[in-house]
Parts: sequence; C-alpha cells; structure tokens
Amino acid sequence: APILAPDLSKCHQVDPVKGDPINCCPPFSSKIIDFKFPLNPKVKVRPAAHLVDETYIKNYKEAVRRMKALPADDPRNFTQQANIHCAYCDGAYPQPGSSDADHVVQVHNSWLFFPFHRWYIFFYERILASLIEDLDPNFTIPFWSWDNPKGMTIPSFYTELDSPLYDTLRDPNNQPPKLVNLNLDPEAKTPVDNTITPEEQVLSNLRLMYTQLVSGSKTPSLFFGDPIRAGDKENLQSGGGSVESSPHGPVHVWTGRPRSESSNGEDMGNLYSAGRDPIFYSHHANVDRLWTIWKGLGKNRRDIQDPDWLESEFLFYDEKKNLVRVKVKDSLDTKKLGYVYQDVDIPWLHAKP
Ligand code: C2O
Repeated sequence: APILAPDLSKCHQVDPVKGDPINCCPPFSSKIIDFKFPLNPKVKVRPAAHLVDETYIKNYKEAVRRMKALPADDPRNFTQQANIHCAYCDGAYPQPGSSDADHVVQVHNSWLFFPFHRWYIFFYERILASLIEDLDPNFTIPFWSWDNPKGMTIPSFYTELDSPLYDTLRDPNNQPPKLVNLNLDPEAKTPVDNTITPEEQVLSNLRLMYTQLVSGSKTPSLFFGDPIRAGDKENLQSGGGSVESSPHGPVHVWTGRPRSESSNGEDMGNLYSAGRDPIFYSHHANVDRLWTIWKGLGKNRRDIQDPDWLESEFLFYDEKKNLVRVKVKDSLDTKKLGYVYQDVDIPWLHAKP
C-alpha cells in the first residue's frame, strides 16, 4: 500500500544531530483540501540562474524578503518552509497507522525523492509568486544549472552579503569562482579537490552527469530508487536512485560548511537544515529539471507504474494557507503544474567517460 499523508497532530520533535532536539512541526490545521490542477494553467518558464537579469534578481530578493517577514507562525514564512524539509526528512511524522519510531515518513533514499521535492518547491514557488504579484505576475524560481559549465559556481546573487538570498552557513572555500565538484564524496569532504584545474573539474562533472543520467539509469528503478510502502522502515543508508546519490548529494555537502566538531554540515549539508539556505530551492529546481530531461532520453526511461508510488501522498500549505493533500501521480507532468524549464545546453549528453 502507498504511504499516505501524515497526521499533523502526531508530528513530534526530531533529534537529527548531537545537541538539542529540534521542533520543526508545521502549524496545525485539521482542514485538508485535495489538490486540483489549475484549470487553464499558464505555463511559465523557470530560468537558469546564470542567465537572469537585474530586474528578475531584484524581484526574487523582494519575494524572499517578504516571505521572511511573514509572522513566524504563518505556514508560508521562510523558516516554516525550511522546516517542511526537516519534518519530512528527519522522521517527525509517524507513518499513518503506525506509531513506533522505525516507521516514520522519510522522503529520501527511495522512490519518493523526486516527487516529494517537486511538490515541495512547487508550493514554495507559488507562495513566493503570490507575495510579489504586484511586481511580477509570472514569477518562477531560478534553477542552479550546476550541470552546465556556465552554471558550475554558486550563482552570484546568492553570495551578496545583506541579501535575503544569502546564508552565512556555507563553505567559505567554495565561493565563486570555485567550481562545484559533482564527484565529491559526501563522507570525505576534504580540500584535496583544490589540486584539480577548472578544465579538469568541468570534464569530471560532465562525465559524472553522463554516468548518472545516461548510462547508469536506464530503468525507472535505477533512476528513482527503491520502493517504500506503508509499513516499510525508513531507509537511511541506500535505496536512493542514481541522481539522488550524485550529483544531488555532493552539491548539498559541497555548499554547506565542512563537517567538524561544531558543524553538522549546516546548512545545505544536513537534512534538517538544508531548507534554511535559499539556494536549496534552486538546487532542487535543477534536480527536478533532470527528471524531465531523463524522461526525454527515451527507451525505458519513464515514470514508475506501480500504484503504491502513484498514490503516495504528502501535505503542503499553499499560498492561501490551505493545507493541501497531493499525490505522486499528479506530479508527473510539469506543464500540468504550470511550468517548464528554460532550454539551455546539455553538454553532458555526449560526455561519455
Ligand atoms: Cu530533501 Cu536535496 O534533499
């Protein structure tokens, strides 16, 4: 059976790191509405972060500024949005019908990874768009195209101090013009990659992309990861699909602080804190874009047909503070959700190692 929407009244504190437990439960509401597709969705284009103009950046900053300025208990507030990731990813929700600690909702390391994150940033984007309707009625979030040589640094607008898009908890060694390392071993983050030239880094990144998206994920189960169904234990080790392991994981760890006695890799490098960095949502927009690109590569690369996947559910607050129940099966076509991605080169398609 599919994993159904959690009962918000059963949300509890999580203990993701050494130190104090964290409460990342959302505001409670007992009124749940089912997701409905917009009737005549206008299909908007999510832009590549390295190609946006000054006006776009100004509006984007203003949207995030307004989101951060909402009351702390408003489910649309930025911290509440960040907490969604913590709650779904660190075991704050028991699986419906179960109460023991091993059977919690966990959206990583399984086939829930792609659809959960698609829905998550979909609502985040809708909230931002609604907050700046006066400035840009067509606002969409930008994607960080770390798979393209032109997008392999942290997009510059995320690095300006005093900007609502800035986050202090990032690795100071990985600021522009440093190129992202998609091959980074998340367990062994060391400065060794300093020795590689930018040209070598680009090539290594493109090859990694080819391996993960083209040659290494020819079936749905290799791409999406292992099933998780009602009654299964959360899987914290393996079970994730090719892209979830890398490049997704390395980009998180590379962006966050190095792990040390005083750091768990915050913000981006740890599940409980990743959503606190505004760059998270651009990182995940690119991961989301790869889902669409992968399906376009043909052969057996298509969505899972198993009803236990299609009927899996999540809950999110929308831009009107309604608590909405969504199903995986409604996430499969981004056009129906009202967006596509700007076309940019995909040089890794031919970067066979
Ligand atoms: Cu929920 Cu990028 O992780």
